[in-house]
Amino acid sequence: MFQTPDYTILDHLAEICEVVDFNFRYLYVNDAAAEHEQTPKDEMLGQTILELHPNIETTPIFSRLKECMNERKSIEFEDKLSKRKIKIEPVPEGALIHSIGLPAHKTKVKINRKTVPAIINNGYLQRSIRDQSKVLEIEGWLDALDLRTKETNEHILRVTDATVALAKMAGVPDSEIVHIRRGALLHDIGKTGIPDTILLKSDTLTAEEWEVIRKHPVYAYDLFYPIEYLRSCLPIPYSHHEKWDGTGYPQGLKGEQIPLSARLFAVIDVWDRLSSDCVYRKAWPHEKIMEYIQEQSGFHFDPQVVDLFFQANKNPAKFGLR
Ligand SMILES: [Fe+2]
Ligand SMILES: [Fe+2]
Repeated sequence: MFQTPDYTILDHLAEICEVVDFNFRYLYVNDAAAEHEQTPKDEMLGQTILELHPNIETTPIFSRLKECMNERKSIEFEDKLSKRKIKIEPVPEGALIHSIGLPAHKTKVKINRKTVPAIINNGYLQRSIRDQSKVLEIEGWLDALDLRTKETNEHILRVTDATVALAKMAGVPDSEIVHIRRGALLHDIGKTGIPDTILLKSDTLTAEEWEVIRKHPVYAYDLFYPIEYLRSCLPIPYSHHEKWDGTGYPQGLKGEQIPLSARLFAVIDVWDRLSSDCVYRKAWPHEKIMEYIQEQSGFHFDPQVVDLFFQANKNPAKFGLR
């Protein structure tokens, strides 16, 4: 008799792992699979592959899956559609489908939680992780950010209000607004993983030091991905430095590949930064900022978001903008 394997050891693997029964019904999916399918795990479980992907029957992956089921043999192949190496193996209940190798954004910057000792060693975070209340936990993250970075609370609160206002104008449904609010509040949470010597340096940063700073969105990803309710707010902390023309980081996403909330936030973050004095320069006058934002339309920023931002500025009080 076969013993049912314990698939939970696959839970946190970066490779996608899915187990289906002989009727192609999902029996197990790991975090990476749920992320890839953009469907919560509990929604996937109990559904069949055909229900989730109505057109899958005509794809090579499905014929390989049937082959594995019928002949009870392992099959490894390069899936042209998803550009991934995939292995399908027989298991007692059906088949295990898994990708081989990590998705691109995981291989570009090699990070594991050991590389962010500042986060793990921070007493505030340890306390907040244990806390049951999400609000208290978010406050805990903000405290940590406040302790370690020069980011002011005023900046954080202003960009949050303004991003939420712009998101509502853009027609983002209320159910999404909560994630946008959290994402904006915690947009630079990844900076808690940057060493103080770089984060608090008052001189100009070297090219190498900039490289380290540029890792903060990926630190945010590593930090929040395992926490289910914070995973939904990741588009802003992870993608707020992407640029419309594809020259941003960490993934170099282009155009609408960038999540809408991150595109909205990017305009607001730059606008607020330029509106305030900082160690390097005085605040810019309003006209100059608006000119700059217009200039960057189609380069740094999504042109439609820029239009929306200008519309909002016609009635700043109504939209929570200064
Ligand atoms: Fe940032
Ligand atoms: Fe910011």
